[in-house]
Amino acid sequence: MAMNLLPGGHWSVVPPNLESARLILVSNRLPISVVEGDDGPSIKDSVGGVATALKVCWPVDRRCWIGWPGDLSRFAPVDVSMVNRECGRRALVPVQLSSGEVERYYEGCANSVLWPVFHNRIDRLPLENHQFDAYRAVNERFADAVVDVLDDDDGRNDIVWVHDFHLCLVPGLLRQRRPGQWVAFFLHIPFPPLEVFSILPDRRELLEGMLGSDIVGFHTTRYRDRFIDCVRALVPGARVKDEGVVYEGRRIETCAAPLGIDADDFRGEGDDQIELEMHKLHTNPDIQVLLGVDRLDYTKGIPRRLLAIDRLLELRPELNGRVTLLQIAVPSREKVEAYAELKVQVQQLVGRVNGKHSSLAGAVPIRLVSHGYSQKQLLSLYRAADVMVVTPLLDGMNLVAKEFIAARTDDDGVLVLSEFAGAAVELRDALIVNPYDIDGTARALGAALDMSAEERRDRMRRLRLKVVGESPRAWAEGFLKLLPFMPPVLLGVGDER
Ligand code: F6P
Repeated sequence: MAMNLLPGGHWSVVPPNLESARLILVSNRLPISVVEGDDGPSIKDSVGGVATALKVCWPVDRRCWIGWPGDLSRFAPVDVSMVNRECGRRALVPVQLSSGEVERYYEGCANSVLWPVFHNRIDRLPLENHQFDAYRAVNERFADAVVDVLDDDDGRNDIVWVHDFHLCLVPGLLRQRRPGQWVAFFLHIPFPPLEVFSILPDRRELLEGMLGSDIVGFHTTRYRDRFIDCVRALVPGARVKDEGVVYEGRRIETCAAPLGIDADDFRGEGDDQIELEMHKLHTNPDIQVLLGVDRLDYTKGIPRRLLAIDRLLELRPELNGRVTLLQIAVPSREKVEAYAELKVQVQQLVGRVNGKHSSLAGAVPIRLVSHGYSQKQLLSLYRAADVMVVTPLLDGMNLVAKEFIAARTDDDGVLVLSEFAGAAVELRDALIVNPYDIDGTARALGAALDMSAEERRDRMRRLRLKVVGESPRAWAEGFLKLLPFMPPVLLGVGDER
């Protein structure tokens, strides 16, 4: 936070001007990633809703983005220079990580420890070695990279906005390096309850790192409240007041700000080839299509979703041959053991359910696709689906649900949504299910398939009213606008600690 020292030894808060401020985004991944192809490295857009949203959340000419461009460790210096040039052209600042750092910070601490704990899946924790030293060291490197790009006048025209669980320590490290800097932090995944978060040996350091920000944001009030509970219980000297935290002479605001998508991106033309294929699927014979689109992640609830299809066909055998689940499961974090295990489990379950219900007449209850699709192709898939099935066991927000709604300009289609997705707070007109309740989910899928055209339209219209009114730009502005309204904490210089 930019602070001026007033006569009498008091600090006053000088709010940033959002009309002119430069936004320094900091996230683990840049919006582009380098991938190794047959002819050497090539650059592709990073997948995932967060990267897509951050790309459009601020005018490009007033934005700079610091992050990891993907694993460059095996590339020749000439290829690395090519990546650096490409980043420079797009106002991106690459933080290069060695293969050891990728293994210990990204795959080790962030994805094998913090991800399961924040998603309440402590059964997925490794037995030992939380690799927190590597996490701390890489967070230091990100903080240094931020300081390198700040304006000389103490960064007063810059707002640093740090994103997600990979970089919880960066706000605190920045506060040490540049005490007067505006820093915001947003967590895109759930925040766990106190008894789960407390499992982490480095819990206090993580919280203190986040408290280095001026504002800490979450997708839902439930996650925000849990963060406050943890701060109250685990950070000595922190005082909770009016949903904010007073700590080390500063006030840190907290808020719930659900991220939305740019609905205009999902209005246009789809992909001809996908449309043709989906048309064939629908008419030959007349099949209703349930669609799932997820990263292959154990938080997404894919195994139980497959079992719900099995249960649906047991409960309603007349549907066999007349419904199919098209499950797109995009490979993710493949070097992490829990993800490799999930892949095998999903393939086995698909085999089991298909083996049980397939017929010579052509019934195939589940079609599993193990690769991603472009946004244009997804648009066609969303439009061709009769029912979109979004049943994560826990999810910070889930933008796929919002993309489906945005794509349904025809006001048709049914969304079946887990009550444990952050999006469920806003999307109450979906059919809300408990993904752990396989019978209940199967019944909801049946109800979605049976729903009258009138009810589908009424629900979709109400869902669209929510989604079409949102945008990443409005989300970013609404969140960052909270900075100036923070009541300043006026403390004598000597009272600061
Ligand atoms: O939701 C958290 C997140 O980090 C998103 O930003 C991203 O889309 C997704 O998880 C996948 O992350 P990654 O492939 O970078 O591990």
